[in-house]
Order: sequence, then C-alpha cells, then structure tokens
Amino acid sequence: MKVLVVGGGGREHTLVWKLKQSPRVSQIYCAPGNAGTSQMAINVALSDTDIPGLLKFAQEHAIDLTVVGPEVPLVGGIVDKFEAAGMRIFGPNARAAILEGSKVFTKELLSKYHIPTAAYHRFNQAQSALEFLETNTIYPIVIKADGLAAGKGVLISMSKEEALQGVREIMEDKVFGSAGDEIIIEEFMTGPELSMLCFVDSKTVVPMVSAKDYKRIGEGDTGLNTGGMGAISPNPLYDQELEDYCIKNIIEPTLQGMRQEGRPFKGILYCGVMLTPAGPRVLEYNVRFGDPETQVILPRLETDLFDIFEAVIDDRLSDIKMVWDHSAAATIVLASRGYPEAYPKGIGITGLEKVGTSVIFHAGTINVDDKIVTNGGRVLNVTSKASTVVEALKTSYQNSELIHFDGKTIRQDIGS
Ligand code: AMP
Ligand code: GLY
Repeated sequence: MKVLVVGGGGREHTLVWKLKQSPRVSQIYCAPGNAGTSQMAINVALSDTDIPGLLKFAQEHAIDLTVVGPEVPLVGGIVDKFEAAGMRIFGPNARAAILEGSKVFTKELLSKYHIPTAAYHRFNQAQSALEFLETNTIYPIVIKADGLAAGKGVLISMSKEEALQGVREIMEDKVFGSAGDEIIIEEFMTGPELSMLCFVDSKTVVPMVSAKDYKRIGEGDTGLNTGGMGAISPNPLYDQELEDYCIKNIIEPTLQGMRQEGRPFKGILYCGVMLTPAGPRVLEYNVRFGDPETQVILPRLETDLFDIFEAVIDDRLSDIKMVWDHSAAATIVLASRGYPEAYPKGIGITGLEKVGTSVIFHAGTINVDDKIVTNGGRVLNVTSKASTVVEALKTSYQNSELIHFDGKTIRQDIGS
C-alpha cells in the first residue's frame, strides 16, 4: 500500500515512522516532510495547505491512503475534496473539523449538550465586547479568537486594561486576521491539564494512552505559550476512573451532539481537559493528533497503525484489538533561540549520529547540500522509552546534550 502523510513537523515524522513498521505499507510519501521524513519516506514539495496539489499528487501516484497531520487542511476541507474524488483519506471532513476551526461553534455545542466547560460569552462586535469588560470585575479572564490562529489565539488577561487591549488587537487590529471576527470571553479556570486523544469512527471511541504536554516556553510554566516544548506518557494524573468519567461525560456526549447536528465525526479527537476543583472541564477540541503528544503516544502503540486508520475509515474500529505497551515515554523539544517569536533558520545541526538510545523525530529541519539545518521554531524531538517516565526523561535529556546547533533551546523541567 502507498501512503501519503500530509504535514512536515514532529507529529508527521512520528506518523511516518509508525506507518513504516506496518508490513502492509510499501511506500510512504510526505508533503512537505522534513529532513527526518526524507530518511524513511519520499518528501514531496507541496505545502500541506495546497489541497488541489495534494489531490493531484495522490491521484497520479495511486496513493491508497492519505493521512492528514495538521488542522488547517482538515478545516479547509481536504477530506471532502479527496472523498469526492474517490480517494481514501483519514480525518474528519470540514463539517466535523469545525470542532477545532471555530471556538464559538464548540462552546455553543458544549453548552447545548450540557458538557462541562468554562462559562462564556460570545461577541461579534468589538464595541459590545469592550462594554462587557467595562462591567466585568473578575480577573484573570480568557479571550479566544474564534478561528484558527496557529495556537496563538488564546489570551489570558490579568486586568481590565489587558483585556481591553486584547479585544482591540483581535477584533480591531485583526492580529489573527478573520479568525478574530468573532471572539469568546470566558471564565479563567485553574487546575492541571490533560491531553486526551481518541480514535473515533461513526460508532466507536477508543482512547489512546494518556499524555501530558508542556506548553509554555519557560521552566515552571512561565513565558509564552508554544506548540509544546516536551511531553510525557502516561500522564501521572490519569487513571481508569478519570478516563471513564471523561469518555462518559465529555467525549461521548460531544460525538452524540455532533451526530445530532448532522456533523458526524471520524478521525482523531483530541480533547484538552482541565482538571478543575469542580471536576474535568473542556478547554478545547483539536481534530488531529497532538504535537508533541504523538511523539510519546505512538511509540507505545503495538497495533498496526495502518490497520487502525483503515478500520476508522470503514467504521470497523470496534474490530481492532488495540494493544499498548506498558512502558513510559518522554520527548524533549530542541527549539530555535527566539521561538515562539522570531527565530533564525538555516543553522547547521551536528551530533545527530551520536544518539543511539533515543529516537529523534525531526520537526523544523531540512536537507541543504547534504547537511541537515534548522528550518523551524521546534527543530527536533528527542524521544525515549523506559520502564518509568523518570528514566525516559533522563535518557532524552542526556541525548539532547549530544546534539548541537547555535541557539539550541531546551526546557529543563519536562516531567516535573
Ligand atoms: P486552548 O488553545 O483553548 O487549549 O488554550 C491554550 C491554553 O490556554 C490551554 O492549554 C490553557 O493552558 C489555557 N486556557 C485556555 N482556556 C482557559 C481557561 N478558560 N482557563 C484557564 N486557562 C485556559
Ligand atoms: N500540543 C498541543 C497541540 O497539538 O495542539
């Protein structure tokens, strides 16, 4: 079988690596891929948002299955376009991907179906949002742009002044473009966070092993939000009781609600949950694998991932025997200096060949003149498995020291 993986980050390198282990997969293409995927797949010079180009490529190369990593093409309707052309593709269609594409849609759905989440108001006029803030006395408060904003569309405002400025930036200055035409202003919640990822077909939900992502750039959860600076699996706070609770009170009612709205979901459902003193509450939904959560989840999967993707597409997920190993996994992100703000690219990377006891999933890397150089904010994911998270972390941190590039930035407290 020939597979096309769409995307070019650490998540996609991990997907390629896992699919490569399937005896049923003979060739993998990755668009656009990175220096890591080029070692086990054929990179295709197409952007992950070029839906017509990707479809033409898949048709011309008789691709048997396309797997989509990032949210932008899913929300943009890549699944609809491929299915209309009779091509097999894994992921939700645009009507279902709205769960990530519109925070307003998701909050209204959660509210309609009584699924626990932060109390909120929605605004499509800056003036009414600003008036609301003038009367609001409780801070911090959370402001969210409705649409996709590359993970940057959530502001936590500590004061009225900050909140007013945030609303002006999103709705008047349009810092996130049309993603800020509408906003949510919601209650600030506290508690540890959990990333809950599930395989979903029209009838069945199968949760994956748990993970925890470390989103802030700095130690002790300080500084700017990033895509994620590291991850561990399992999440130490997670147990069977919590999983059962979240499936019954959050995931199942959400999927049922989506069906009732005429938007049946299939693919990967990623629920960001906050464990508040009043119980688990939904922070957000993503309609794809997490990055870097995938880097610690898929190495623990023993079942053939290609079989799972096919079963989801054909609504046979309940037939799959899902087997996870009992190890723990950790991944450390090696980022460029300056990330998540401006950072340089094109910096030579050395020492990759010295790493033997971790797997390196590439993210922002590219081959230039037979050398691997940086090409993004998150550059590499040094991933290890061991019998405990502590040991896996130790191995990843040790191996991270063997790799060098100017400006290499590592968060030192992943797992704590
Ligand atoms: P989101 O993209 O909605 O997951 O938001 C990004 C991050 O902002 C989350 O992982 C939380 O750390 C934080 N966040 C979002 N909504 C809230 C909220 N209502 N209360 C507290 N923190 C939040
Ligand atoms: N690690 C967070 C995300 O994938 O959205």
